[in-house]
Amino acid sequence: MKIVVVGGSGVIGSRLVTLLARDGHEVVAASRRSGVDTVTGEGLTQALSGAAVVVDVSNSPSLEDAAVMKFFKTSTHNLLAAEAAASVRHHVTVSVVGTGRLLGSGYFRAKFAQEKLIKESSIPYSIIQATQFFEFLTNIADAATHGTAVRVPPVHFQPIAANDVARTVNKIATGDPLNGTLEIGGPEAFYLDGLLQRVLGARNDPREVIADAHAHYFGTDLKDRSLLPGDEAELGEILFDDWLGRTAQPIPNANVQPAAAAGARTGRSQLKENEFRVGEVPAASVLLVGDCAVFNIEGGFCATQAMCPHRQGPLSEGSLDGTTVTCPLHGAQFNVWTGAVLRGPAKDPLKTYRVTVDGDIGRVEVPLAHAFQGA
Ligand SMILES: NC(=O)c1ccc[n+]([C@@H]2O[C@H](COP(=O)([O-])OP(=O)(O)OC[C@H]3O[C@@H](n4cnc5c(N)ncnc54)[C@H](OP(=O)(O)O)[C@@H]3O)[C@@H](O)[C@H]2O)c1
Ligand code: FES
Repeated sequence: MKIVVVGGSGVIGSRLVTLLARDGHEVVAASRRSGVDTVTGEGLTQALSGAAVVVDVSNSPSLEDAAVMKFFKTSTHNLLAAEAAASVRHHVTVSVVGTGRLLGSGYFRAKFAQEKLIKESSIPYSIIQATQFFEFLTNIADAATHGTAVRVPPVHFQPIAANDVARTVNKIATGDPLNGTLEIGGPEAFYLDGLLQRVLGARNDPREVIADAHAHYFGTDLKDRSLLPGDEAELGEILFDDWLGRTAQPIPNANVQPAAAAGARTGRSQLKENEFRVGEVPAASVLLVGDCAVFNIEGGFCATQAMCPHRQGPLSEGSLDGTTVTCPLHGAQFNVWTGAVLRGPAKDPLKTYRVTVDGDIGRVEVPLAHAFQGA
């Protein structure tokens, strides 16, 4: 089945492309960098030719109110028209839980307009409303930063890992259209202020998160349950602590938030900067160790530089399929054993490092020239 993933280089799109390709579908990762622009219409007809399903996981490059509205209205209109012409049988999109009750925000007004266009079109559809991605938490903090303080309302929310979102989108895209909306959320609820503080602390980010009942969230007021999914929502499996443990920078000194230090790397204190416990990296997973990403490929370990050579995407947050890691920012792919570039936009290969194992301790053998900072 030919499936076009619009926004196939993004956080959800790149993971989804990997899952669909693994299951044997003919997948087109469509976005501007592959010559498909849903705003101008460039490349759309060719990309959609023969497609059965279109998944739209694109996002507006600008979050300014007028720009984001123009993006979602124009892009969705062009996409649905091209789908009708190509006899596409199923349009799938990812929206946000609570969109209809957050209309004080320009972003959510634009997502609401996108949903409306989809519901009014002739194409059978599925709308998946997801809660905030774990991978998006620092963006929430950035949007709420004033000086060195992050001001957010102390409300409940139930974020979800991008890998869980991609798995659900994969399932829905390859099934019958819902002609309705499915909500998905993470397995646990948190306070927004508390969790942002933990994420920042785990990355040694000095900003302080302040619970401010009057603070806005992307321009809108929040009630305690505004961001929570309903009782019928499907829940993801990945626990926040597990995700943070895999993705957070290690804590090099005591000058960090105590909660983050406890949650991020329990037991790492006896390890050197280039060491890890073998049990921390199960098969087919990746762990950030100092400045390196350590991969477990069917029981064998290898390591590469942690940051993507394109624009510093965190490869330890990317998806791993066999020996291929996909950068979570723009979808570049690399062979983790050789470092070779398998797909752009990255042009330069990854640096690779040998990993040795002694009992239950693994060690990244980094040449002195690339030694870990502070090691
Ligand atoms: N972040 C969250 O917490 C969250 C929560 C719930 C729902 N959502 C929704 O999930 C969706 C996907 O989010 P994401 O974080 O995965 O997005 P993302 O990482 O920001 O990726 C956006 C994608 O859109 C593409 N794009 C931008 N302009 C385009 C254009 N004119 N034509 C074609 N492609 C274009 C980009 O690629 P190019 O730059 O190559 O064009 C990129 O692949 C969004 O619609 C968002 O509203 C997000
Ligand atoms: S592909 Fe752009 S940062 Fe990795």
